[in-house]
Amino acid sequence: MKSVKLSSGYDMPTVGLGTWQAKPEEIERAVATALENGYRHIDTAFNYNNEDAIGKSLELWLNNGGKREELFITTKLPHYGNRAAEVEKYLNWSLEKLKLDYIDLYLIHMPFAFLCDASGCAPGINDDGSYELDLLTNPVSVWKQMEQEVKKGKVRSIGLSNFNENQIDEIWNNAEIKPCNLQVELHAYHQQKSLRNYCASHNIVVTAYSPLASPGAKIHFQTKYNYSSDKFPDLLGHPVVEKIAKAHEKTTAQILLRHLLQNDVIVIPKSASPQRIALNINIYDFELNSDEMADLNALDRGAEGRIFTFLFFKGVERHPLYPFRDELQ
Ligand SMILES: NC(=O)c1ccc[n+]([C@@H]2O[C@H](COP(=O)([O-])OP(=O)(O)OC[C@H]3O[C@@H](n4cnc5c(N)ncnc54)[C@H](OP(=O)(O)O)[C@@H]3O)[C@@H](O)[C@H]2O)c1
Repeated sequence: MKSVKLSSGYDMPTVGLGTWQAKPEEIERAVATALENGYRHIDTAFNYNNEDAIGKSLELWLNNGGKREELFITTKLPHYGNRAAEVEKYLNWSLEKLKLDYIDLYLIHMPFAFLCDASGCAPGINDDGSYELDLLTNPVSVWKQMEQEVKKGKVRSIGLSNFNENQIDEIWNNAEIKPCNLQVELHAYHQQKSLRNYCASHNIVVTAYSPLASPGAKIHFQTKYNYSSDKFPDLLGHPVVEKIAKAHEKTTAQILLRHLLQNDVIVIPKSASPQRIALNINIYDFELNSDEMADLNALDRGAEGRIFTFLFFKGVERHPLYPFRDELQ
């Protein structure tokens, strides 16, 4: 199935292009390549600092006859703007940069919040390098403002990212417009079974970020945050994945993406390589059998498989809305 119906009534393509960590000139080309290869779903966020470049590519494509209603653009309210009074400001900035008059899916990027610095485009940092926590943020009031943006027509669908089950439940119980999408880390080593079951029972479609286990994140965490972790698995080179790839004459990335798709999860692999962009969406012409699905399901390491603990934001675990406290030793 190439798209799924969200509870908001809109169709969401099951494969999208991820854009985190791509330099603006790189992502401008990548989005153009993706559109040429049939992608219609692009995932970005205000704090990826690449919405301008994506906007240029989208504008070009639309000016050359592309239809806006075919596109599905996701962006996110940044953690340093996670306050009801700031939702509209960041949303307007995203619309302006993306050169769009509505966003298809707007997500609250994180449940926790930081204060922002004077630029409005980065979190405040204390003298000891820790992040300035905003302890007054209230996800339900932020959600209420997201609902207003739907009513104003600036956003078609709204959802959450990096919220845990209890946090989603709180939004759910207080929402007039229910969240229709949850974007979380999800790959063969971190399969989020319980969260997926919760979402299925609430008609919330799940999007997998880092579906290939984010091979580039290790260097990024080290260079940007001076944060190192040994939790960087090489899923693309795993023997079980390689064996299945050989049997289907596909790449290991295609097997990992197909596995998630068959588990009813949307995937947003990031690539800046034209060849890999083309390969990553070419996953609709084969099917993994039940033994192969069982072998891939068995790779799950549960909480141990999580890469994005967000502990590279120094001090984040002290925020009361830090979502993974249960997993801390
Ligand atoms: N909501 C959140 O908090 C959050 C957090 C993280 C990510 N995300 C979203 O999810 C997207 C995907 O996650 P991600 O970027 O962390 O990780 P990913 O998609 O799992 O992996 C991307 C990395 O894999 C490489 N790659 C891509 N296709 C490949 C292939 N076919 N074979 C081998 N290597 C391949 C890419 O390098 P090349 O570019 O060189 O191909 C890049 O280094 C992000 O870009 C972003 O849009 C959201």
